[in-house]
Amino acid sequence: MIVSMGASAFLAAAVRRPGVVGAVAPSSLGLAKLLSAAVPRSGRPVVVELGAGTGAVSRVIDGLLPDAGRHLAVEVDAGLVAHLRRALPHVEVVPGDAAELAELLAGRGVSRVDVVVGGLPWALFPPALRTASSVRS
Ligand SMILES: C[S@@+](CC[C@H](N)C(=O)[O-])C[C@H]1O[C@@H](n2cnc3c(N)ncnc32)[C@H](O)[C@@H]1O
Repeated sequence: MIVSMGASAFLAAAVRRPGVVGAVAPSSLGLAKLLSAAVPRSGRPVVVELGAGTGAVSRVIDGLLPDAGRHLAVEVDAGLVAHLRRALPHVEVVPGDAAELAELLAGRGVSRVDVVVGGLPWALFPPALRTASSVRS
């Protein structure tokens, strides 16, 4: 059996932190395309991806985003952050907790976001964490 680098890095993270990763394998290409459907194809859009994992959805976002766009991939697990930086060196990987998104974006000079692509294991989050976001509309 051949296991890709992404799949083995994902599984290792899932074993290490099952309650944070929330799955045993990265999203399929079909699901990644569905999640990325709202990514603008023109202009200078800013796209934020929450819970980038090993980059299954990040790759699709990247393929859709125009050259002038910006893609910030937020990931809380340090091992996955390191994997993302190796595998997708051109993606702006943001280490941190999605609940602190406003601070993470402000620290990078981002004051406007066009699309948020969600990859978080929402069903596993306790109610307090689901409402903990510091983002204001
Ligand atoms: C179900 S996996 C999805 C990974 C990837 N988006 C995919 O579709 O293959 C959830 C991801 O969210 C990350 N995650 C969980 N809680 C997070 C949080 N509070 N902030 C940022 N990332 C988080 C996990 O480490 C994991 O990489």
